Amino acid sequence: MINGVVSGAGKKMKNEEFGKKTDNGKARIRAPRVEDGRAIWELVDQCRPLDLNSCYAYCLIGRDFAGTSVVAEEDGKIVGFVSAYRRPADPEKIFIWQVAIHSSQRGKGLARSMLLKLLERESCDGVRFLETTVTPSNKPSRALFSSIAREMGCRLVETAGFPANIFPGDQSHEEERLLRIGPFCGGAGRKPGSI
Ligand SMILES: CC(C)(COP(=O)(O)OP(=O)(O)OC[C@H]1O[C@@H](n2cnc3c(N)ncnc32)[C@H](O)[C@@H]1OP(=O)(O)O)[C@@H](O)C(=O)NCCC(=O)NCCS
Repeated sequence: MINGVVSGAGKKMKNEEFGKKTDNGKARIRAPRVEDGRAIWELVDQCRPLDLNSCYAYCLIGRDFAGTSVVAEEDGKIVGFVSAYRRPADPEKIFIWQVAIHSSQRGKGLARSMLLKLLERESCDGVRFLETTVTPSNKPSRALFSSIAREMGCRLVETAGFPANIFPGDQSHEEERLLRIGPFCGGAGRKPGSI
């Protein structure tokens, strides 16, 4: 770490290190495509407590946000999905929108591998912070982002995100807390053509 910045996040996280604590060797991590939209929609539908967006929205992610999103495919099936984008007004920050792992694949380090691989991509050159929101009760999600912060040697700072009362309905949606991990140097260790 130099001046508080973890240089070359990817240098610490070569592809061969992915899955070192895991059993996810079979899943292929790649960019999403428009044609993946329906399979992603079906996966997210099975991954409560995630909000299910429209199939159309997932097709758009395959078209317009493929550079900063990833899927994991095993035996022709989409078993993992991460949607993310660089914030238009602050492109040093990548916002992780949804992370969904099929129940059969959980606990193998797949979500962790997908996020780390995403941060190595050329499309993440210049990214210095990862942001996401989590609900207070989503322990697996919190554990995932704590693990990412530890791996990258960065601070994880939690602040207010979206209060519960901005969501429609009977207020059954919990508040969303904002997590910020960084600073780091995204994209630095990307292997050309690796995704
Ligand atoms: C949250 C979710 C994405 C985690 O995926 P996963 O592939 O099982 O996570 P990983 O195996 O990569 O684990 C990453 C870290 O989180 C921890 N973790 C994962 N699931 C956990 C659980 N249920 N309880 C406690 N810790 C958990 C792991 O131990 C690991 O920590 P470590 O590196 O310190 O050992 C998955 O459970 C899921 O899809 N849940 C439903 C949808 C959701 O809540 N998405 C998150 C919203 S962004």
